[in-house]
Amino acid sequence: MDDIAIARALHVLAIVHWIGGVSMVTLVLLPSLMRSVPAADRLALFERIEGRFGKQARVSTIIAGVSGFYMTEKLDAWDRFGDPSLWWMHAMVAVWAIFTFVLFVAEPLFLHRWFHERASREPEGTFQLVWRMHIVLLSVSLAAVAGAVLGSHGVVF
Ligand code: HEM
Repeated sequence: MDDIAIARALHVLAIVHWIGGVSMVTLVLLPSLMRSVPAADRLALFERIEGRFGKQARVSTIIAGVSGFYMTEKLDAWDRFGDPSLWWMHAMVAVWAIFTFVLFVAEPLFLHRWFHERASREPEGTFQLVWRMHIVLLSVSLAAVAGAVLGSHGVVF
């Protein structure tokens, strides 16, 4: 087994954990909290569960990024970023950059505080907004996954 195969396996494992977790939060956790948990208890419960996943997702994004750039270097694939038909390369990096910014910069600096204050004042509207943002991020992530699997196995768009 060569090093690119190992990097690919690590890449996919990290993506499964990370995007799978985003699916769980978007499609199960947020709708259940909004439907079944009283507004007064919702924030504390969400922060406890999502905070735990957020820490794990940081590790997954690092593994996905390192393995992704390693494969790009080893496959000598940097020129792909100049080819629009290989849009899925850009999509992967864009998804990675958005989550890296949110997890490592926005959340610790201001997003967590903003969410906590707004959800304490106006839980219904804030949870709806956060849910919609998760739906957008999940959709873009799944499009990147589908594009990357098809594209890296020879499908030309
Ligand atoms: C820094 C960010 C990233 C870089 C540089 C990167 C780079 C790569 C490279 C070079 C490949 C191998 C392509 C080939 O074999 O021709 C790959 C595969 C793949 N990547 Fe990424 N990637 C990144 C982030 C992501 C993200 C965020 C996702 C998910 C949304 C993702 C999903 C995938 C998938 C599903 C494959 C295909 C695996 C397979 O079927 O063999 N990657 N990536």
